[in-house]
This record gives sequence, C-alpha cells and structure tokens, in this order.
Amino acid sequence: MSLIKNGILVLPEGAKKADLRFEKGKITEVEEHLEALEGEDVYEAKDCVVFPGFIDAHTHLQMDTELCQTADDFESGTRAAVCGGTTTIVDFATQDKGGTLKQALQTWKNRARGVSYSNYAFHMAICDWNEETKKEIAEMKEKGVTSFKVYMAYENLRVQDEELLDILNTLQEEGCLCGCHCENGPVISLLQEQEFAKGNTGPGAHPVSRPAQLEAEAVNRFLYLAQLAKAPVYVVHLSSRLGLAEVRAARDRGQTVYAETCPQYLWLDDSVYDQDGFEGAKYVMSPPLRSREDVNALKEAVLHDEIQQIATDHCSFSYHTQKVIGKEDFRKIPNGAPGIEHRPALIMTLFEKELSLEKLNELLSAGPAKLMQMYPGKGALLPGSDADITVWNPNRIWTITAKNQQQNVDYTPYEGFEMKGQAAMVFINGRLAAKDGSPVGVPGGIFVERGK
Ligand code: URP
Ligand code: ZN
Repeated sequence: MSLIKNGILVLPEGAKKADLRFEKGKITEVEEHLEALEGEDVYEAKDCVVFPGFIDAHTHLQMDTELCQTADDFESGTRAAVCGGTTTIVDFATQDKGGTLKQALQTWKNRARGVSYSNYAFHMAICDWNEETKKEIAEMKEKGVTSFKVYMAYENLRVQDEELLDILNTLQEEGCLCGCHCENGPVISLLQEQEFAKGNTGPGAHPVSRPAQLEAEAVNRFLYLAQLAKAPVYVVHLSSRLGLAEVRAARDRGQTVYAETCPQYLWLDDSVYDQDGFEGAKYVMSPPLRSREDVNALKEAVLHDEIQQIATDHCSFSYHTQKVIGKEDFRKIPNGAPGIEHRPALIMTLFEKELSLEKLNELLSAGPAKLMQMYPGKGALLPGSDADITVWNPNRIWTITAKNQQQNVDYTPYEGFEMKGQAAMVFINGRLAAKDGSPVGVPGGIFVERGK
C-alpha cells in the first residue's frame, strides 16, 4: 500500500487539499486526512499538485517514414514521457498499403510491449481502405482501439475523399471516433515542386508550400464530409486561425468537433524558418509553425474552451543524422519534432496565470481520457481508477536543454526555454516511474484497452 500525503489533489469535483492511497495499481481511498498504516510507503506532496497522470494522445514512436525511422522508439519515447509527467500515450499504429489493421496493431503492440515506461494505447491510422479493412473496424473496437485517423496529406498515407466519406460512415455506425490530419496533400506537392524549381531548396520553403489556406480547406472538406456522415470527429494538430474558423463554423452548424493543438503551435512561430543555414530544419513539421497572430488565436481558443486537448505530435528526428537527409532538398527533410517530455511543463508555464488547475487537468489528462474512452480508469483520481498519478511541483524553475533530456534526439525546439513547474513524482500503475525529471526503475507500462 502507498500513500500520497498533503498535496492539492485535482479531483473531478475540483482541487482540494487531501491524501490519496493506492494499492495493487489502483487508487483505493481519497480523503481529507489519511493516517499512514504500518509498513506503508508514504510520499510527501506538500506544496505540490497531484494530478491524474497526464495523457499525450498524439505520438509517433518507432515510426517508419519513406526516408528513415523516428529517433525515439517506445523505450526512449515513453521514458521521456514519464520523466515529463505523462503516464499514458496514444500512439498511431499505421496500416501499410496492402496490409491489414490487425497486422498494424500487432506490429505496434510488439514494438511497445516490455519496453514502455508509460502505459500506451493505439489509434489506428487507416491508409488502405477496402472491404476487408471495413470489416476490421468492429474487431479493432473489440480489441480496445476506439479512435482512428486518416491523412489528407502524404502520398503514401492519404485516403481519397470518397474513401473518407465511407470511413466516416463506417466509424459513425461503429461508435468510433475519426481523427484527421487536415492538409491538402496534392496542392502541397504542387507548391513544393514550384518552390524547388525556383531554387528555394532550404527549410524556409517548407512553410511556404504548406500555407494555412491548405489546412483550412482540408478542415472544411473533412468537416462537411463528417456532417454528411453525422459523425463526431477530431481535428488533430490544429495550427492556424483559418483552420480554427472552420472548426467554429462546423460547430455553429451543430456538429460535434473536437480540436487538438500542440505546444509548438502555442509557443513557437514561423520566424524560426528565417534562421541562417539549415537550422530551420529542426522545425520542419506538418502543419508548419504559423505566424504570431495564429499562435495568439490558438492561445485564446484554449482559454475559451475551444480546444479539447493539447497533445504533442511527438515525431522526433535527429538534426545531425536524420534532418540532414533533406540538406539539398527541403522536401526530403523528415517531418516532425520532439516534445513528448516537455508538454506538461510547456503548458503549465504558458498558462500558469490564466488557467485553473481544473482546466489544466482537463487539457492534459481528464479531457483526453474522456475523448479517448479511458475515463474514469484514467484521467481521474477516484477510488477504483488506475494509480497513474503525476505529483507536480509548480514552483520548480528549470531550463529545457537537449543535453539533459531523455528524448533520444540531438536537439529540442525549446532549447534554453525557462520552465516553471516539474513532475516531482510520477506513478504508473502504482509504481514510481520517475522522480524530478529522471527515470526510476524498469519499464512497467501496459497496453490500455479503450472503451471497456
Ligand atoms: O510533421 C509531423 N507532424 N509528422 C508526423 C506525422 C503527422 O503529420 O502527424
Ligand atoms: Zn501526428
């Protein structure tokens, strides 16, 4: 048995000072005052905030792209996650063209099993829609995969519009959630060719070839198709004002639209692409970073409850060995950036003065748990819930630097950024997994079957 004492607990009814007991991986008691029992492990949480473990519902670990594999696998990625305070990730198992969903799920489970520090669940990315795939949706749900994703960009991943409508209809009938990477892939390819032909071969051409209009157009198309299918949907990594306007318009039409954004779209802007040399490659991700006005609009949207979750889209590639593949041609720079370790600190720091503990919990833990059908097993400090717990020290001042990170990558987009707040203790299924930003013990994460 273990006891966390004297912390401010963020409970479903609100934050209050209380003690919490857990045993065999489950929370057993939450009371204003609990006396330590003989032989019990007692963890002091004075001056700390005790959150249900944070959930990062958008990660890409050990993912192959056409050019290389992500720098972080499930071992390093989830180790970084727990050190930052994240106790569960939802990664994207991705169907191969010509492959089945079952195969993809098995592949991703094999990658994660036994090496993951955090718990893990999977969305399924549908890349080859056919009658066989359609039949597999119910089976995926049975296996605990309740959310799916489609890409409107990337030639090797994207589905056609008519397939997208069929997917939306099918997922709606099965009661599953459809997420979408909203960017107009074919037009992006054309703009990329045009930029390259003009001699714009460096990272600066990346945002130019992926303007916000092409996000907004795709959000608009996705959401109108969702309206036809009467499907609740989820727009992943929203990055722009124009895209946000399309989300608002669909909601005004009465649609259920969940929106996710990421720390990078709330902290960074497109001025990073103006740096000399190849530095901008560190920020080549899709969608790209936008203007300061976009950043401010998304922050406002967070403050006004228009964003349901903040996830990372962690997709790391090392600058010196992987990003460099695109040194002569920006189209070959692997797309993605690291963030799995730093999301909680970035969000706590950014919104320290503006968001309540309850609201922060909603964005980082309870919200994703509900949306991803893990609540109240996860995302809640309730008797019976899993003992995934993040004890947050809100007063610790520290600086992000690649040198000290757990992420298996040679840079961070947030180098030198000062943070206020750090995960002091992180429990996964009742076991201490990280302390003050460093891992403790061995990987103990397990697969989370959702919707059960
Ligand atoms: O640039 C990014 N985000 N790469 C990961 C794949 C995706 O688009 O989600
Ligand atoms: Zn992604």
